[in-house]
Amino acid sequence: MAKFLVKQSGPLHGEVYISGSKNAVLPIMAATLLCEEQCVIIDTPRLRDVDVMCNMLRRIGADVVEDYDNNKLYIGTKTIAEHEAPYALVSKMRASVLVMGPILARTGRVRMPLPGGCAIGARPVDLHLKGFAALGARITEHRERGYVEAVADKLVGSNIYLDFPSVGATENIMMAAVLAEGTTILENVAEEPEIVDLANFLNKMGARIKGAGTDTIKIEGVKRLSAASHTVIPDRIETGTFMVAAAITRGKILIKNAVPDHVKPVIAKLRECGVTVSDTFDGLIVDAENADLVATDIKTLPYPGFPTDMQSIFMALLTTVKGESQVIETVFENRFMHVAELERMGADIVTEDRKAVIRGGKPLHGTSVIATDLRAGAAMILVGLVAEGSTEVSEIYHIERGYERFIDKFESLGAKIERIEEKVKEIQ
Ligand code: UD1
Repeated sequence: MAKFLVKQSGPLHGEVYISGSKNAVLPIMAATLLCEEQCVIIDTPRLRDVDVMCNMLRRIGADVVEDYDNNKLYIGTKTIAEHEAPYALVSKMRASVLVMGPILARTGRVRMPLPGGCAIGARPVDLHLKGFAALGARITEHRERGYVEAVADKLVGSNIYLDFPSVGATENIMMAAVLAEGTTILENVAEEPEIVDLANFLNKMGARIKGAGTDTIKIEGVKRLSAASHTVIPDRIETGTFMVAAAITRGKILIKNAVPDHVKPVIAKLRECGVTVSDTFDGLIVDAENADLVATDIKTLPYPGFPTDMQSIFMALLTTVKGESQVIETVFENRFMHVAELERMGADIVTEDRKAVIRGGKPLHGTSVIATDLRAGAAMILVGLVAEGSTEVSEIYHIERGYERFIDKFESLGAKIERIEEKVKEIQ
């Protein structure tokens, strides 16, 4: 099992280039299943989650060519050979559920084992299924056998109101509705930039989608879609991670290929803390050199609110800031698992239900911690950079699921991080 060994490093300095967005590329890859021809996805990040999706698509019948020298993927699916996503892959990644909408739309039948991914809460798929049902699919849950099935002779456009603006449900229903007969109106949908990117890709394929990026999306069904080529948006959570890296180490980083509009709440909160963020022609400059940061409160919300994926990362920063800060998590019910790990490093945090109170500025020391999920893993690395001594972060496969060339990028900024392979001890 590999680990990251993180040593206390000075302020980070230099520039970093942001990769294509994990959360945008995964639904776009799934959407290629909607046509028979070969699509091209440009600026694909090389990540474990992308590998899982490639394997998933191959099992379903896609021909996937990975050209990482040019960060491109070529995906074409002449025929859907398999209507069931394999559990071995679904259990590794919750976003696997995104193949449901396209398979259902193209073939009228799909079977899905109940999904896995980061262990941050129950993460049900009821909203996805309600959407498919509203489009005319018959849903049968086989709980005892651990899978759910959706079957439809044909999908018909409908008015659908989501009880919560779920990102995955919005994407899945949108992908199912593009080939449905007639018009679909989706209300109270997620407004994340990744939804807009998916809609742009689908429209390039010939879909007729309006309103992506607002709370209401209108889709006029079409008979067929054709090949498209698309460049994925930059990753806003990777952007936010490097912004916080500059802040927590009191350094200065130029972040290239960032979209400032996509990270507005992170910029606002960093400025509230006393960090200088400048939007320049070359990129975002985040400067915390010699800054005396002040405590602040954050509350996670669906976009354009503060992203839940930045919650643990921002909490890491708040542990280094004198005074009392509050973090409220409203999106997931169990996303404070990193708190216990931060406490092991000396942080003073008290949680009650979905609220964490951080008394920042306490001495932090390196120790052995676990990356409890992808973003919590990034948070551990960030605290490791400023904690006294060395921090050993295990279960780093979570981090490698979602950050491209993580170590290289951090090292280029002056961080002392090493990936170590630990031999598994044989039990006698
Ligand atoms: C996506 C992102 C993830 C991010 C999350 C919220 C991808 C691949 N992942 O995950 O990084 O943390 O958005 O911004 O894009 N819910 C239900 N029923 C459903 C679906 C969701 O109750 O059918 C609940 C979930 O349990 C959770 C909340 O809605 O509490 C938000 O989930 P959702 O927006 O669906 O997140 P994902 O699409 O899984």
